[in-house]
This record gives sequence, structure tokens and C-alpha cells, in this order.
Amino acid sequence: MTTETEGKTRQFIEQAERFGAHNYHPLGVVLTRGEGCFVWDVEGTRYFDMLSAYSAVNQGHCHPRIVKALVDQSRVLALTSRAFHNDRMGDMLEKLATLTGFERVLPMNTGAEGVETAIKAIRRWGYRVKGIPANEAEIIVALGNFHGRTTTIVGFSDDSDAYSDYGPFTPGFKQVPYNDLDALAAAITDKTAGVIIEPIQGEAGVMIPAADYLPGVQKLCKENNVVFCLDEIQTGLGRTGKLFAWQHDCERPDMIILGKALSGGLYPVSCIAADDAIMSVFTPGSHGSTYGGNPVAAAVATAALDVLIDEDLCNKALALGEHVKARFDAELTTANLKETRVRGLMIAVEYQTGVAHDAAVALQSQGILAKDTHATSIRFAPPLVITKAQLDEALDIIIPTLNSF
Ligand SMILES: Cc1ncc(COP(=O)(O)O)c(C=O)c1O
Repeated sequence: MTTETEGKTRQFIEQAERFGAHNYHPLGVVLTRGEGCFVWDVEGTRYFDMLSAYSAVNQGHCHPRIVKALVDQSRVLALTSRAFHNDRMGDMLEKLATLTGFERVLPMNTGAEGVETAIKAIRRWGYRVKGIPANEAEIIVALGNFHGRTTTIVGFSDDSDAYSDYGPFTPGFKQVPYNDLDALAAAITDKTAGVIIEPIQGEAGVMIPAADYLPGVQKLCKENNVVFCLDEIQTGLGRTGKLFAWQHDCERPDMIILGKALSGGLYPVSCIAADDAIMSVFTPGSHGSTYGGNPVAAAVATAALDVLIDEDLCNKALALGEHVKARFDAELTTANLKETRVRGLMIAVEYQTGVAHDAAVALQSQGILAKDTHATSIRFAPPLVITKAQLDEALDIIIPTLNSF
């Protein structure tokens, strides 16, 4: 590292700290380029990206097919609003309906907007189909959830950093412990319209529920005429080794929310998918978004889905995840290890003590970018395009480093 490049890093960080709001605490690395599973900082150092922008970059950084779709469509027609049809949205909707197995898809932009859309759909369905008295619908969520940052969504988070002093919050949400079917059964009433949970809690530290949890939630929802909605924004689109994480455990839910990798990291694209019985509660004017379903988003999402399928990224993630698990089981020997949690390439290593941040910093200094969560856990989620040889190269650094804590 030369003094000149060190100066560049300092300059970019100081600029961000001087002019930006301090709502993040990033690692001290300034990235300037990405390709596949690698990113480079302004000093020219190459890193394995083991975060993938929280699983938005499943297809790898700057995938040429997705970049081409973005560039080509931007040159022709970028935004129409939904006041008019455009000739790209239909392909995306049809592809999504086919892949998800749902009759209808409603496109939005960010993940949080997708979750808000699901909340609206569930509430309307609760009043108009289930017959819940006006303004009394309840939605059950799980403790430890992360569904985004809007005021409604943080209102049902139990992370005080996320919700403190943003109240008053939207009423109508009940929290129950995750992975606890008795608690869920006890919380359901005649006024329960839906349950929204993550099939694996990502931000909570890759918390994988017991194998009977999702089938149990599904059964309770069916028995009580409650919409079973899975937030697959982080787990979906290949991350866990299946196209959707629910495919590991249960039957298709009543609704899913997708985001992040729906664009391969090039553009914010999210959606909800459900059958007509729920989606028909939306009528013209009752919901929308200026950018939702725009031609660039549609072209990008269509290409991002094609890449997932054509490059068989789900099966790749499944096989590579098994390889990671085997190497962790054989080679992670630190006495401070509590457990590892691996499903596809959604991976966490949990320590008994709060060393995760120090471990992330130590990994950074050796060319590995990973993210600590809740003091004791460190998460790994490489782009699914990573090869076995590249993964082994990364693990040859990661495992000894983790063993030193
Ligand atoms: C499970 C889940 N839901 C929702 C969101 C929110 O997505 P966005 O940041 O695009 O609003 C995230 C983001 O991390 C997430 O992991």
C-alpha cells in the first residue's frame, strides 16, 4: 500500500463521514470495482466478497448478461410509470409467475416496499375475503425478524437500534418467538389475517428453524384460514441451494416476497407473488409505485432470473454449501466455536464469545470481506457463481483465521 493510495482510502471515507448521515458503520475499505465473486478497493487490493450485498449479488458482481440488459434497455426506454403499458414488464411477470408457481406478481422496487405490499394485500384479504371487522386485522411476525426499514416494518422489529424513537407505530402486529409452533398457535385469533416470517432469519444470524417449523406454520395457517407469507428477499433465488428456501421444508406458501437478487444487484427490484384469491384484492388505484415494473427493472430482472437458471446456480449453491459444511466440520477446531449454520451458501459461524467483529477485521486484512452479526456470529454469503477452486482458496484463509479466535 503506497502513501498515495492510503490517502485515497482516507479521502473517500472522510468525505462520506463529513457529508453523509452516520446511519452505517462500514468496514474501513473503499471498493471501486467488482467482477464475479471478487471486489477491488481503491488501492488495487482484491477481496473475496463473502457478503454479496446481503445476498443481492447472487449472480456475481456486474454479470455481463445483466449489465447488457441494463445498458441496452436504458438506451431505448427507461421509465413510463404504470399509467401506460411497457413492452418489457410482461416477460418479467410471466417468468416470475412460472418460476414461483403463483398466478400473479406485483412488482415494486426495494425489499421493504415488497413487505409493505404484502402487508396491504394480507390486510385487504382479511377484511374483504375472511371478513375480519374493519381495522381489526392482525398480522403475526417473529421475534428476531428483519423485514426492512419503513416505520411500519420497524414498528414490529424487536431490535431497539431499528425501532427506537421512531414511534408511534402502526398497530395490528403481534410478535411471537421464532421456531415456536405453540407460541404461534396461541397467538392466532379470529382476527388473524396473516403470518409473515423469514424461512431462515438472515439478519438474526442465519437462524435455521427446525425441519417441522415451516410445515407446522403452514398447517396452522391452513387450519385457521390465515395467509402464510414468506419473506424470501434474502433466502430466495438460489441462496440456500433451492430457488426458494421453502422448498427445503414445506409446500408452496400462500404468498412470497422477493427482492435483492431479483436484479442480480444492478437495480432495486422487488415483488410479491400470490394467487388470484389474494392478489385480486388490489384494484386500480389501490396500490402502486412510479418505478415498480419499469422497463429497465423488468429487463434487468428477466436477465437476472435467466442467469440463475441457465447457470444452474441453485444446484451449485447446494453442492458448495455441503462442501463448506464438510470443511467446517473437519477443520474448525477453535474451542471458542459454538456452532456453524449452513444452508446452501447462506452460512454463519457462531462463537461463544463476542469476537465476531475482530474476526471480520482480521479476515478483511487477508482479502476476505465478511460481516459480523450480533457480536458472536460471522456470516458468509459469497456470490453463487464462485467456483469450487475459488471457494477453497477463500476457505484456506477463512478457516485458520476463524480458528485464531
Ligand atoms: C429478509 C429481508 N426482508 C426485507 C429486507 C429489506 O430489503 P431492502 O433493504 O431492499 O428494503 C431485507 C434486507 O436485508 C431482508 O433481508
